[in-house]
Amino acid sequence: MTSHIMPTYARQSVTFARGEGAWLWDTDGRRYLDSVAGIAVCNLGHAHPAVHEALCRQSKTLLHTSNLYGVELQSQLADKLIELSGMDNVFFSNSGAEANEAAIKIARKYGHQQGIDNPVVLTMEKSFHGRTMGTLSATGNTKIKQGFAPLLAGFTHVPYNDVPAIEAAIAADKNIVAILVEPVQGEGGVNIPAADYLNQIRALCDRHNLLLMLDEIQTGAGRTGRFLAYQHNGILPDVCTMAKALGNGVPIGACLARGKAADVLQAGNHGSTFGGNPLACSAALAVLETLTTGTLIADAQTKGARICQLFKDALTDNPHIVDIRHKGLMIGIELDRPCGELVGKALAQGLLINVTADSTIRLLPPLIIDDAQIITLTETLAALIQEFSRQ
Ligand SMILES: Cc1ncc(COP(=O)(O)O)c(C=O)c1O
Repeated sequence: MTSHIMPTYARQSVTFARGEGAWLWDTDGRRYLDSVAGIAVCNLGHAHPAVHEALCRQSKTLLHTSNLYGVELQSQLADKLIELSGMDNVFFSNSGAEANEAAIKIARKYGHQQGIDNPVVLTMEKSFHGRTMGTLSATGNTKIKQGFAPLLAGFTHVPYNDVPAIEAAIAADKNIVAILVEPVQGEGGVNIPAADYLNQIRALCDRHNLLLMLDEIQTGAGRTGRFLAYQHNGILPDVCTMAKALGNGVPIGACLARGKAADVLQAGNHGSTFGGNPLACSAALAVLETLTTGTLIADAQTKGARICQLFKDALTDNPHIVDIRHKGLMIGIELDRPCGELVGKALAQGLLINVTADSTIRLLPPLIIDDAQIITLTETLAALIQEFSRQ
């Protein structure tokens, strides 16, 4: 079935035919509880009526005209994002990697404006910023870079959640112009830094005239219990990137900028044929409207806390659990051993989970998950973890 598709993914042997809310049905009609949400994409669940309605309406009206002309829905979406984020303006892309490419270009041009010929962006070990050559170079994971040299110059990496390491790097290299960091590392293992980590980096950026660039591609759009994770810290970045849940499955990314970062890219400096087209913007507007009219975002915090507590209670006697942690509905259960095989075991029980960084179970359920589904998720998975630990 997949023989003509390049084998770039290690896929599970299941194909989904339809979804509704937190449920998915495979091509044989079997039902699964989705606690991956398309890797933090379908925050509103599957087949959400508001997104469905927006897409139907827009596809009957206008799909695409290009950025040679004004795009009304793009302006409306930008206004809404600015209102929700506190930033100043937006560049629209089609994916997370492309949003980060825009951020990297802002950092480099900002550096040149300061008279720095070889600007360097500081990023973190274990970070993930995308698969394009620029974002792969920014990424702090040597395994996924293997075979793709030469990588782009102009990136330096320090350990995550280590402010003194950032201070030392800044002192050692006058070419550093920006710091690119995830508020919670997703692919790196659901790594949650100290509560004031972002505040400290903000202060360092202010002191050294660097751009603070937050990659909120996985943490954004309500996932952590705030619209953007930096809102837990009461700070504003200079650049913030979003994608994934912004379109709930319709490809769209955004690079938001503020203050001195907002004027860096001028006409002719950057672009995208599809970026911010009417169809994608109509979906994103429906997503933002839905996310911000109810209590879904605030509930992500309480639901995440409840899920973690249920796992802690069920796994209290399990000596192989290193940590159970969460920020909103970004949940990590770290084991003391590689546990990738749990993905297939959970699938066989009708549950979708993900394992990242070899030994951390990552759960990213849709924000609309209800209490009965939370019980199904925690009971099924806790039993699987107990059985796996006894092996
Ligand atoms: C933090 C972060 N940045 C960037 C990306 C890349 O996004 P995309 O796959 O849409 O290019 C991802 C994807 O997982 C991500 O989690």
